[in-house]
Amino acid sequence: MSRNTTSLQSHLTQSQHLRGLVAHATAPSNIAFIKYWGKRDAKEQWPANDSLSMTLDSARTETWAQIAPDGVNRLFRQEGVFSASEENKAFEFVDWLRKHTGFSAALHFETWNSFPAAAGIASSASGFAALTLAALGAWTGASSLEDLASHGFGLSKLAALSRFGSGSACRSWFGGFVEWSAGDHPLAQTVRQVAPAEHWNLCNLICILSSAAKEVGSTAAHSYASSSPFFAPRLAGLGERQKIVARAIAGKDLVTLGRELEAEALEMHTVMQTATPSIRYMTDESVQLLAALRQVRQQQELPFYFTMDAGPNVHVICESQDRERALLALREITGRIFPSKSVAIIEDRIGSGPSLRRVEVTSKC
Ligand code: PMV
Repeated sequence: MSRNTTSLQSHLTQSQHLRGLVAHATAPSNIAFIKYWGKRDAKEQWPANDSLSMTLDSARTETWAQIAPDGVNRLFRQEGVFSASEENKAFEFVDWLRKHTGFSAALHFETWNSFPAAAGIASSASGFAALTLAALGAWTGASSLEDLASHGFGLSKLAALSRFGSGSACRSWFGGFVEWSAGDHPLAQTVRQVAPAEHWNLCNLICILSSAAKEVGSTAAHSYASSSPFFAPRLAGLGERQKIVARAIAGKDLVTLGRELEAEALEMHTVMQTATPSIRYMTDESVQLLAALRQVRQQQELPFYFTMDAGPNVHVICESQDRERALLALREITGRIFPSKSVAIIEDRIGSGPSLRRVEVTSKC
């Protein structure tokens, strides 16, 4: 069976449903190196711990928005960023935004995802960041991020708003490596860039083992985390891990970063599995792939390391000079251990953050 490597589209797409002057927002997805798992206060979207992520480049959501000419909220999907239930969540979030920003106009939205929305890659981070940006772009008429900042919506404010759609969305506002600090009060949370994308050219190769939708969404799953006996010990050790990871990024030390990445992903999945109710996002196939990757790393002296999100798919991190070797190795591994399955590998790398434009849409593309 053929094995696909998917390079995500890098050029911007065009709106197909909206006409006239439209806010066009793009927001990247991000992959967490230190995971946000569990909340101190769900109502305030206050995480149990600090987290740290790498902003992606091509894995992104584009969202267009304009004041609804018919006064009715509508959402058009080019590639299904939101499923039907997520669509409701999107409308609820836009209502929440209205209440918290003072804007009242109904909006028409259109969204497009550069990566398959049903592929089990967290699309909520890019989806909710782009939704926030497009809505505020339409309401204020701002034509760039700088312009939006002059209307009182700088990146920190946007990050704080977007986390009420999805916590991980708040890290998608900055390029490179980004830290979300919980602070000692819900209002003391901060999101900041630790290092820009140019600092260290890391790649993220995403092995798609399953594109099925999650049985348990992350909102419910976060609320179970504290019932795991491993939750408290995890939190106790995370401060130290955060420091080690920040140092590894500063020093471009992939061996140390990789060791912590893998330990962190396994720890988060242990908390998930030992919570009540128990959630098993990691499948037998994921476990097989992780083991084979470690074996090949040793045999071929290939510095590539795994991490995982709340799903079965495996994100492989390596430096750009090892990307081709890593891709070859992943194709060989997946072909060998899953002979009757086609495993797509999505290629991405570190990216530089969101963008906002004001565009005139005249005709169908
Ligand atoms: O943003 P949420 O509520 O979908 O939670 C995402 C949590 C993880 O993706 C598993 C980890 C993270 O920090 O992104």
